[in-house]
Amino acid sequence: QVIHREDYLAPAWLVPEIALSFRLGVEETHVCSKLTVTRNPDGNGSDVLRLNGDQISPLVVKVDGRAARDWRMDGPDLLLELDGERHAIEIETLVQPVTNTQLMGLYASNGMLCTQCEAEGFRRITFFPDRPDVLSTYSVRMEGNKARFPILLSNGNCTARGEGAEGRHWAHWHDPWPKPSYLFALVAGNLVANTARFTTMSGRQVECNVWVRPGDENRTQHALDSLIAAMKWDEEAFGREYDLDLFNIVAVSDFNMGAMENKGLNIFNTRYVLAEPDTATDADYDAIESVVGHEYFHNWSGNRVTCRDWFQLSLKEGFTVLRDQLFSADMGSEAVKRIEDVRILRGGQFPEDSGPLAHPIRPDSYQEISNFYTSTVYNKGAEVIRMMRTMAGEERFRKGTDLYFERHDGEAATCEDFVRAIEDGTGLDLGRFRLWYSQAGTPRVAIAMRHEGDTAILTADQAVPATPGQAIKQPMPIPLRVALFDRETASHSGERLIVLDKASDTFRFEGCPRPPVLSVNRGFSAPVALEVERPDADLVFLAAHDDDPFARYEAMQSLIVRHLIRAVSAGLDETGLDKTGREAGRDAVRQACEAVLADEALEDLIRGELLILPTVAYLSEQLLVADPGALHQAREALKAWLGAELLDSFRALHDRASAVPFGRDAAARGARKCKAQSLVYIAAGDPAEGARRAFAQYRAADNMSDRQSALTVLCGLDVPEREEALADFHKRHEGNALVIDKWFSLQAGSFHPRVLDHIRTLAQHGDFTLSNPNRARALYMSAALNPKAFHDASGEGYAMIGEIVRRLDPINPQTAARFVPALGRWRRIEPDRARLMRAELEEIAALPTLSRDVREQVTKSLG
Ligand code: ARG
Ligand code: ZN
Repeated sequence: QVIHREDYLAPAWLVPEIALSFRLGVEETHVCSKLTVTRNPDGNGSDVLRLNGDQISPLVVKVDGRAARDWRMDGPDLLLELDGERHAIEIETLVQPVTNTQLMGLYASNGMLCTQCEAEGFRRITFFPDRPDVLSTYSVRMEGNKARFPILLSNGNCTARGEGAEGRHWAHWHDPWPKPSYLFALVAGNLVANTARFTTMSGRQVECNVWVRPGDENRTQHALDSLIAAMKWDEEAFGREYDLDLFNIVAVSDFNMGAMENKGLNIFNTRYVLAEPDTATDADYDAIESVVGHEYFHNWSGNRVTCRDWFQLSLKEGFTVLRDQLFSADMGSEAVKRIEDVRILRGGQFPEDSGPLAHPIRPDSYQEISNFYTSTVYNKGAEVIRMMRTMAGEERFRKGTDLYFERHDGEAATCEDFVRAIEDGTGLDLGRFRLWYSQAGTPRVAIAMRHEGDTAILTADQAVPATPGQAIKQPMPIPLRVALFDRETASHSGERLIVLDKASDTFRFEGCPRPPVLSVNRGFSAPVALEVERPDADLVFLAAHDDDPFARYEAMQSLIVRHLIRAVSAGLDETGLDKTGREAGRDAVRQACEAVLADEALEDLIRGELLILPTVAYLSEQLLVADPGALHQAREALKAWLGAELLDSFRALHDRASAVPFGRDAAARGARKCKAQSLVYIAAGDPAEGARRAFAQYRAADNMSDRQSALTVLCGLDVPEREEALADFHKRHEGNALVIDKWFSLQAGSFHPRVLDHIRTLAQHGDFTLSNPNRARALYMSAALNPKAFHDASGEGYAMIGEIVRRLDPINPQTAARFVPALGRWRRIEPDRARLMRAELEEIAALPTLSRDVREQVTKSLG
């Protein structure tokens, strides 16, 4: 069944108030719900009140205090026919948290009870109009065994609590802010808090808690610090103040996604809460800061202003991702953050945009909304709003967001509402810019420059590729930040923002006596795929001299991509390049690397970034049909060649970085990143020395970043130290689930010649389980993203992922569906592998029972 955006209808009935009462139990929880329903003056006047349900049945249905007769079921939903304007509806249901393996609705994790209601989980708890445009004030009573559930939490403020008979106790919670059902949350269990106080800009005292299982409390400080930093930052950067006296974060170990922004009671995957230097890497610390910020920022972009329907998901997610990106940039290095975000976009979103599951950031239809929590909605959504900010400038953009929050506070809004508020607040005309919301596909922009007299003339052409259901596309406004470098002085006379808003256009730059070097799409001002006509020498120049660190990274990447694409197409002799030509290309990469290694003015954090090779997934994107085996080999060969050619420089970098003592400051973090990267190249260039250094680094490590980067390198080598280090790591961190996840993930992600055997053995390990999403992903998502394992010519990698989808679907369809897109790439892969990938999809499709989640992804992937 397909839901269409155009079919939106306002609800016939509203629910201004709801009182929920829970008698808690892990096996059974009894739920009483009392709704005040009123006729929606803006509705269609229908007498039918639709209350959504999912795998629940009503024990009691009452209308205005009397047992109701005229209710009926419509599939999973309960329908009531009502006259008049206002009624009280009472419904009782019984749910079984312990058997809820989907982790949607009310479920048990490690003996505690918690909820996940976005997008459509509330209907698994009680019957309700489970749609984001129905906003209610929630009062919640929770009652349960005090020994089993010493802590009882829900949204808003705790208004009363007390003891009951037979070791039971209760708590009342009230949330004064009307909210949609997807923001409801409840947690009951044995938890301890790390607490801090924050005073808002208007003087409100907020108690902030990070709740974890006893024993984990010494790993919560970073999350708590991040929360306080986020609260302060949102006041300064967006003028947004927190609006309750309490803010709770709870960490749970079984969670489908990263975290959830329930009003006043965020629920987090433990991996985005728990950290200490011995068990968390620098990347883990960054991820915690960013996710804590993200969920906190939802309090305004998502909760105070929510979505009218799920097609508007990017309204809250795209905007909130942009807000968390800007927050992280302000907390750390703006340049590094930008490079990382672009890498995520290209690695995850670009492939989505060019495959069978491509959809606009505001989709037009869906079968299962869980499948649309995608990189497109989140990350491309953020890029689209970032473009508005780039075109308006920071200050004017802030006027636009202020207007948006003011105009729509307390409402369920649409993407169109957002764009209009930005237009009105900034004065921009975003008329045709709206195409970014409706058209899928990554625009391709071809750029060439010629030089006449003292003028450089830039010509740009754009094409938005066809995507499923969208054959013909219109050109979109594409903002490009441009600078022209003088070759001699290595400087430019200022950056210019040009907007390409037709299929083809030219732009003139005066005051260039010599042919300049073109730096374009600086800071990645538009999420497009660029094809720029320019010699390798210009890229080497930019890699060494561009004053925009992103552009420097980009020049390096372009050089490498160009070289690797030539290397794999050589056999076909398409480029017309002979061996000498290809070697010249490789040499240009070496020169650029040398410049990066030698530049003393460069921060180590950026140096580390610049040395990272593009992934096979991104390389494959450059080709209509890719041979991932050949690309992987070419990439490994380049790594080994660079490692050998620049061995001395990498040794020197590794030595220098190893001498920097542990600290959480940028310099020490940069050193660790360089240590990791140099080790990768040394091991590629000289495996024996790589193994020696990696093992020494592993043993000397006093933090997880160093221990993990050393183990990662050892893991890919066929040396005895490999087993020793892996065994040591497991023993050392036994019982710490998040670190054991790393142990699985590292091995499944390695390029070891026998990686597939390793994965099969790991699946039999006593610590492995499919029912915990973190553990399942640690092993199998790492495998699916590992070109060596997944694209093994035998097809075993595909079979492995196909089997996991089939086995996981009955347990946790949402998580199972996440593995399908990897197989869905088959059309863009060489024919032998494509056939094997397709066969796996067909085998999934042939199953007699399949969740809506997996069914939708598989059907679309088969096309
Ligand atoms: N709104 C959450 C976030 O962006 C994601 C929750 C998605 N959950 C789901 N079951 N699809 O942080
Ligand atoms: Zn979000």
